[in-house]
Amino acid sequence: MQKLTTQAEWAERARAVLPAGGFGNFDPSIFIASGKGARVRDADGHEFVDFLIGSGPMLLGHGNAEVEEAVLRQIPQGMTFFANNTAGVELAEEICRAVPCAEQLRYVSSGGEADMYAMRLARAFTGRDKIVKFEGGYHGMSAEAQMSLAPETLVNFPQARPDSAGIPASVAAEMLIAPFNDLDFIRSLLDEHGDTVAAVIVEPLQRIIPPLPGFLQGLREETQKRGILLIFDEVVTGFRFAYGGAQEHYGVTPDICTLGKVIGGGFPLAAIAGSAAIMAHFDKSIVGADRWLMQLGTLSGNPVAAVAGLKTLEILRREGQYAALRALGQQVMDMTGNALDAAGIAHRIVGDQTLFEVVFTAAEPRNYRDVLMADGRMAARYNQALRAGGIFKSPGKTYPCLALTAEDLDLTGAAIAAAAQSLAGEG
Ligand SMILES: Cc1ncc(COP(=O)(O)O)c(C=O)c1O
Repeated sequence: MQKLTTQAEWAERARAVLPAGGFGNFDPSIFIASGKGARVRDADGHEFVDFLIGSGPMLLGHGNAEVEEAVLRQIPQGMTFFANNTAGVELAEEICRAVPCAEQLRYVSSGGEADMYAMRLARAFTGRDKIVKFEGGYHGMSAEAQMSLAPETLVNFPQARPDSAGIPASVAAEMLIAPFNDLDFIRSLLDEHGDTVAAVIVEPLQRIIPPLPGFLQGLREETQKRGILLIFDEVVTGFRFAYGGAQEHYGVTPDICTLGKVIGGGFPLAAIAGSAAIMAHFDKSIVGADRWLMQLGTLSGNPVAAVAGLKTLEILRREGQYAALRALGQQVMDMTGNALDAAGIAHRIVGDQTLFEVVFTAAEPRNYRDVLMADGRMAARYNQALRAGGIFKSPGKTYPCLALTAEDLDLTGAAIAAAAQSLAGEG
């Protein structure tokens, strides 16, 4: 029998050709060989219940038969054209029907790219340069998005500091950083700088931290009255919190939103969406050369991604899907809370039923600094124990998916209980 390559061997091969031994995304010691439903299997044959779900896109679970069929039907007809394709138009129509702020959209291949264009679009529309971003908010890898993303050294607001090498100081000078969930701060910041600010960009639920009641509404009012655009980064929340995303869920409509993850059904596809008046800046014939944003990409609107996205959205539109997703998430939240309570461990389960995480702290975190103050070593031990118990997840997020079965949940409950007990045992 042919000997299988072990994960340790794969890791050694990867270290030779990939800096830091991986793709830059995730723990480089694990190699996923396959996924089906809510389970993934690593290259050594270990099976896990998957709460990473590709960092969000696989909301239906892996290998959904209907999505697979749609993709397999498309592939023999062509995998990419660069020119317009009909599936891309149909998907755009469906997204514009679903998402309150979307009258038109432009495709890109990743969420980070969408965020980069969203900020540029706001600058083109307003003729202003500054962008307000929240500390700890994640908007991909552009120079702007790297400002105060996850700083270990804290500086005074609204000073921006890049979390990456290779970013010129001139970019920091155009960014204003604010604490999440602090409307008073935003009001005074915009009172001082408002006439130079193009946009406020925000994750409606920042990483896992929910907006306090009234925070998003307040951002809407404060931006609107100053002619500043409000950008919701819905790369995570789009088609997850509700069919119309976080803007439907929270009842606040931004000027621009970015979408990714779920809309590509597991393939690279993302979008910038907004009103026709704002999106006109992608059309030189309307706004003229000086106010036009050049925007294109080889794989933008890829037809395989578009058919996977269309089928995914069709499934999500079926009766009861979001209620089912929320019920599954609630079960995992309850299991976690009960196990940690029984073990006497101070914690908060932070987030939304469709995306949450345990934070080892006694007080409800409201912003990045609150999460930074929580017990990170305890979180690392908890995540390690979950992995050992057969749970696959990122260290910072738990994503439930619609493919979770009763058996998956039993296994999850047992792993959570064992992890909580092991933390209590270690003291
Ligand atoms: C809120 C948010 N915005 C943007 C991105 C970037 O998306 P992508 O990884 O597709 O570039 C992510 C990725 O996780 C995200 O969580």
